This record gives sequence, structure tokens and C-alpha cells, in this order.
Amino acid sequence: MQRTAVVTGGGTGIGRATARELVAAGFEVVVIGRRPEPLAETVAELGSAVTALSLDVSDPAALTEAAPRLPAAVDVVVNNAGGNTDIGRPAPPEGDLVALRDSWQANLDANLLSAMLFTELLRPRLAENGRVITIGSIAARYGAAGYGAAKAAVEAWSAGLAFSLGGRGITANVVAPGYTEDTEFFRGRMTDARRTTLIEKTATKRVGLATDVAAVIGFLASPQSGHVTGQVLHVNGGAYLGG
Ligand SMILES: NC(=O)c1ccc[n+]([C@@H]2O[C@H](COP(=O)([O-])OP(=O)(O)OC[C@H]3O[C@@H](n4cnc5c(N)ncnc54)[C@H](OP(=O)(O)O)[C@@H]3O)[C@@H](O)[C@H]2O)c1
Repeated sequence: MQRTAVVTGGGTGIGRATARELVAAGFEVVVIGRRPEPLAETVAELGSAVTALSLDVSDPAALTEAAPRLPAAVDVVVNNAGGNTDIGRPAPPEGDLVALRDSWQANLDANLLSAMLFTELLRPRLAENGRVITIGSIAARYGAAGYGAAKAAVEAWSAGLAFSLGGRGITANVVAPGYTEDTEFFRGRMTDARRTTLIEKTATKRVGLATDVAAVIGFLASPQSGHVTGQVLHVNGGAYLGG
């Protein structure tokens, strides 16, 4: 039977690599993002198994409005949209608590509330034995202010989801990447020195690639992963020894 997956942030980076992985596994894939251009590039690369929907998944009104354009039945949800909203923005001025609150709120909206709201929208459409896979981050274990806190909260939310959906055979897991290239995450701001430091922290002595993360997502999307739930799967070359 045809299986359907929805990948948020599917126009670039880890999301596009995930769409590629899921198409290869036989899924029909809907890719979602705010900008139409990267989504169109994903469709152009992967062909007729992929359709695109421009949507801000952190906006409850936009989600409600888009509901009729989303698939009626969904086997796999990949909550991948997100990123560190502090990158490229000036730091909040010392003592400006409003600006500080706004910067944290932006990361919570982009990473935690987006995944939670999108999953709630699709919850009634999730197929028996479905999968909810949410992208966390090594930052959940190492700080990174509002971004790390938002990704840590993603882990707690996903653990609760595993129990509320488990009776339907649906699993909920987090895939937590370390430093990953082939993405727009760093907005061109990664320096050679910082990159070298991040590679040195790994056991594998190399950068992570979007395909490394997508391969683990592909396993979690497969029928063989049905007894893996409530977990955080780390994809970081050993830079953080998971648990
Ligand atoms: N790259 C790394 O080193 C790294 C490490 C740990 C975790 N991660 C996580 O991996 C995930 C994927 O990021 P990436 O590394 O592949 O970077 P990326 O290339 O910047 O991908 C993020 C994608 O999410 C989309 N997006 C962001 N906010 C959205 C929203 N509100 N609604 C819909 N789409 C939205 C973006 O498209 P639009 O801008 O067009 O909406 C973009 O396609 C993120 O959750 C990120 O936090 C990345």
C-alpha cells in the first residue's frame, strides 16, 4: 500500500536529504517550508513522488488554513523545520529583558511549538503504526541559550507523545544531529577555526552530512523500527555520547 510522509523544512539541508531517503523507500512525500523556491528545487530533483506546500508551521492560523491541503492520511511526520533563530541577529542588549524574552520566544516558536502544533494538526490523520520523528540537536545537551532549551523541550514533548500515541502502534522519536553540513543552518557564518574545533570533538574526525541524519530518519520511518519509541537517537560522530 502507498505510504505518505510529510517533511517540514523539506526544501533544504536535512529535510531535503530526508525527502530523498523516503522517496527511495517508496513513500509519497509532501515537503513544507516558507519559501517556495527551495521546495520547487526538491520537487525538481525528486520528481512526481514529491509535492510542495508553502506554509509557516509555527503559525497556528496558517496551519488551520492549510489543513485541507495536507494529506487525509499520514504514515510518517518528520518535524524537521527549525534552526537557531539567534544566528545572524544582534544579541539582546545587556539588561534588556524584553529583547531577551523575544529571542528565546523565537527559538521556542521555531523549534518546539512548530513541531507540537504541526503534529497536533495531523494527529487525527496519523495511520496505525505511524511515525512521528522530530529533529532535536546536540545543543539540547550543551546549552546554546534559547535554541538549546527549545531542543531539550522537544525531547520532553516527544517522550510524552510516545505514550499518548503508543496504543495506536505509532512511535515518536527524536533524531539529534551534531554539526551537519550541506545545510543552511549556519547562514554562511561557520568559520574554519570553529569547524576544525567541531571536527576535533568527534570520534569519526569528520563533519556530519545531511545524508547521515536522513539515514537514521529512514530507519525510524521503516516498519522494522516499531519497538523503538520515546528515544533520542544521536547522530554526531561521538561528539556527544548519548543517553
Ligand atoms: N545543521 C546542523 O548542524 C544542525 C545540528 C543540529 C540540529 N539541526 C536541526 O536540523 C533541522 C534542519 O535544519 P538544517 O540543518 O537542515 O538547516 P536548514 O537548511 O536551515 O533547514 C531548515 C529548514 O526549515 C525550514 N523552516 C524553518 N522554519 C520554518 C517554519 N516556521 N515553517 C516551515 N519551514 C520552516 C526552512 O525553510 P524556510 O526558511 O523556507 O521556511 C529550511 O528549509 C533543524 O531543526 C535544526 O535545528 C541542524
